Amino acid sequence: MAFLYQQQVEALNNGIEHFIILTGNCNEILDQLPDESINCVITSPPYWQMRAYHVKEEHSDLVIGTERKPEEYVKNLTLIFNKIKRVLKADGSVWLNLGDKYHNKNLMGMPWRVALAMQDDGWILRNDVIWHQRKGTQSAKDRLRDMYEHIFHFVKNKKYYYDDDSIRIKPKKLPIINGKQTISATGVSGKKYRKQISESEDLTQEERKEALKALDETLEKIRNGELVDFRMTIRGTQRTYHSNNSKVSGRAKELETKGFFILTSKAKGFLPSDIWDIVPEDQWRKDAHYAVFPAELLRIPILATSRVGSIILDPFMGTGSTIVAANKFGRSGLGIELSDQYVKIAEERLNTNQPALQI
Ligand SMILES: C[S@@+](CC[C@H](N)C(=O)[O-])C[C@H]1O[C@@H](n2cnc3c(N)ncnc32)[C@H](O)[C@@H]1O
Repeated sequence: MAFLYQQQVEALNNGIEHFIILTGNCNEILDQLPDESINCVITSPPYWQMRAYHVKEEHSDLVIGTERKPEEYVKNLTLIFNKIKRVLKADGSVWLNLGDKYHNKNLMGMPWRVALAMQDDGWILRNDVIWHQRKGTQSAKDRLRDMYEHIFHFVKNKKYYYDDDSIRIKPKKLPIINGKQTISATGVSGKKYRKQISESEDLTQEERKEALKALDETLEKIRNGELVDFRMTIRGTQRTYHSNNSKVSGRAKELETKGFFILTSKAKGFLPSDIWDIVPEDQWRKDAHYAVFPAELLRIPILATSRVGSIILDPFMGTGSTIVAANKFGRSGLGIELSDQYVKIAEERLNTNQPALQI
């Protein structure tokens, strides 16, 4: 069996296949996959004691999430992620989505129990993303509505693949109102600085001229979309900095010799925050599967932590959302799923899927 799986992973690597689905228990199948063969794992295991999945009677013991005690669930999941560590490349990433659970009215903190156990097992936790689902469920009258789940980003090593540029939020070109008005990302128009320069008694006439020229040049760059924001500090008009000593700070030196300095933010854009506002998908609910990944949730993990042609694994594949998204972004997908019913749905989705996106 291990040889067969090795060949299948090889086919994904060579681009002969774009996706492979393995039906069975991920706990066993993971042992058969080759070392360091996977670039990225994006997955959502069953949450502890949440719902029944459609698996054959004889497989019901293999389903993760049915453990009686929270400690058993944490132990089982940690073990599976330990197996994932072996198959993950040295620069690979794991994105783990987990929701919480109330037990005897007590919020269990299950996502963090798992995350802490994984840290104890050697994983490095890089982010705890809050997936703000925007429409919460109201199941009790004596507490607030539940509105979020966690998505943990784990890595094996301190140095790992991360394409920050692929996920930056690019600034929009700023509008020119009445032919001249332009504002930066935080609303700095330059008007205040122009007044301060013109009225400054601390600047010489030549310094005033140079400061106005630099201000105009910066505003032009904002207009062109080369910069998103700026701050100007003018001698005598601004609060002094703690590193005002010109021997210590280059900026203080600039202030002393030129009379001003400008700090700019480049148009590369900002990195997304660790709170994601994404409404859960309900498109596939008619197929009796309730915890489907929305496509938007997969975009950042795929773009930031895998390359075109990389292999993305989902060991709890469900209806195959991770694999569909991997293919859409030109990555290969490897899915493992215990339920025949979900495998069938995933295969249908994948076979009617659009060709890979050109990115
Ligand atoms: C939360 S769902 C995943 C949903 C998926 N992200 C999607 O978009 O469709 C978890 C899945 O794990 C499967 N599962 C549970 N135990 C498993 C095991 N030991 N091996 C493989 N799959 C398992 C369940 O059948 C279920 O489909």
